[in-house]
Amino acid sequence: MLIDIIAGARPNFMKIAPIIKAINTANAQGAKLRFRLVHTGQHYDAKMSGDFFTQLGIPEPDYNLEVGSGTQAEQTAAIMVRYEKLLTDEPGDICLVVGDVTSTMACAIVAKKMGLKVAHVEGGIRSGDWTMPEEINRVVTDSITDYFFTTSEYANRNLRNAGISDDRIFFVGNTMIDSLMSNMDNLRAPDCWEALGLVPAKYFVLTLHRPSNVDEDAILYKLLLTIGKSAQNLPIIFPVHPRTAKVLMALDNFPDNIHMVDPLPYFEFNYLVKHSKCVLTDSGGITEEATYMDIPCITLRETTERPETVDVGSNELVGTDISAISSAMAKLMAGDWKKGSVPEKWDGAASVRIVDVLSTLKIDS
Ligand code: UD1
Repeated sequence: MLIDIIAGARPNFMKIAPIIKAINTANAQGAKLRFRLVHTGQHYDAKMSGDFFTQLGIPEPDYNLEVGSGTQAEQTAAIMVRYEKLLTDEPGDICLVVGDVTSTMACAIVAKKMGLKVAHVEGGIRSGDWTMPEEINRVVTDSITDYFFTTSEYANRNLRNAGISDDRIFFVGNTMIDSLMSNMDNLRAPDCWEALGLVPAKYFVLTLHRPSNVDEDAILYKLLLTIGKSAQNLPIIFPVHPRTAKVLMALDNFPDNIHMVDPLPYFEFNYLVKHSKCVLTDSGGITEEATYMDIPCITLRETTERPETVDVGSNELVGTDISAISSAMAKLMAGDWKKGSVPEKWDGAASVRIVDVLSTLKIDS
């Protein structure tokens, strides 16, 4: 049985790394799982891709589709055409996709049409926000998925409500947390730590890259002004995503306490989060990592597809309203933040559970 493991964009890499390790471990103990790693090339900069491969010990991809930048349709189309060609030349049996990026959906569609089974890691999560390309990617991918590997009871419920039978839903936990747990001892301070004289619990981490927050300069600027002011002179470390960087180039006069840095590698970014006072973010994955580390997290979005990070974890869904952000930050500065705990099955063994399931599947070309 040949498994294609698909990865395309930054948030995919920490999800596939532990799965590949678990497959290699199982094979060393006698399992016979063949896989090939397909990088679509959706993200291609060293800072968005290569650094993660190196730090997380991900092997060189067997194939790189090298699609590069483009609109949603251009990227989707290019990935589909190139992956179809690959499967035509060298067929596979299962296509394992992770998360909700364009590469996830594009490869799932091609694989299903070419007769492969589709396995979706992080299946079933829903924000209900149809303005996010990721929500469309999730729903389309799940509509053609055969095996769902889920991170939460919320995801299980969403799938059951959509009529998916229990025998196709595998509640395994969270591979992103597998990566984090196995790398806790590798976390290390980024260069800006000394350069800025950072002190544990006396700085914020900020990330922003959702189109709705960053594509319009007026919206982005207002967010930065509010966050800068509400941090009461504490430094804010802002690793800037390439999408956000393009808009920031046309702006100036930022609050002095906002320090923009390049996108950080995995060890350095999570070190910063682990020692911070609070993370402000519009990412989904970072809310999970903050929850695991019990670091207060303010989500700058109106919805989340990961409600367990709010119910159980340290995350609060604050949205993008300026006064709501100021109030949340005031509450935090007053020391009035909830204590979180770790959601069920976020225990570092999700990838092993996935590989256990894959080992039992009887699919042959
Ligand atoms: C994608 C994902 C998003 C994820 C994010 C993490 C989709 C729909 N969205 O959004 O879910 O949270 O990745 O980063 O798949 N660029 C570079 N260098 C790179 C990669 C991108 O300069 O290595 C530039 C591109 O030219 C593009 C912009 O960054 O203009 C955005 O990249 P894109 O892959 O379209 O989407 P993201 O916003 O990164």
